[in-house]
Amino acid sequence: MVDPENRTNGESEPRDRRPVLHICMTCRPAGAAPDAPNDPAAGSEFHDAIQRRLSARRLESSIRVNPINCMANCEQGCSAALSSPGKWSYIAGFLRAELADDVIDYALVYGASRTGVVMPSKRAPSLRDAVVARVPAHPDDLLEQRDGA
Ligand code: FES
Repeated sequence: MVDPENRTNGESEPRDRRPVLHICMTCRPAGAAPDAPNDPAAGSEFHDAIQRRLSARRLESSIRVNPINCMANCEQGCSAALSSPGKWSYIAGFLRAELADDVIDYALVYGASRTGVVMPSKRAPSLRDAVVARVPAHPDDLLEQRDGA
C-alpha cells in the first residue's frame, strides 16, 4: 500500500513512508542467563506474534516488518526499533509476544506522527518504559521534510 503522503526522493519511485518495525530475531528475554536454553529465540517468537497479529488485524500493508539479527541491545531483549524517513527512530527493549498488539498500536501512532515522537502517555501502559534510546533522522531526510519535498 502506498501512503498518500508519500513524496518523491528525486527518483522516479515515491518513497515508502510506512513505519518500519525492525525486530531482532536472536534476542533472548531480558535477564536470561547467557547459557539459558533459547530455542526458539524469544526474538523470533516475538516476530511471529507480530506477524500473526498484523494478519489478524489486516494491517500487513500498514507496517513494514524487518527481521534482523542483533541491535546491540541484548541485555534488554527482546528488542525492536521503529524508523521512518525524516523521523526519529526508537529502540525498545523488554518486549515479548504478549505485547504484539501494543507494539502494533504504537507503530501505527508513530506512523501517523510527523516527527515520530510519541509521548509515553500515547503508548500502552505495557510500553511506557520500553523505549531505551532514540536516534535522529538522517539530516538529508530532515532537509527534505523541512523543504516540503
Ligand atoms: S541479540 Fe537482540 S539485540 Fe542483541
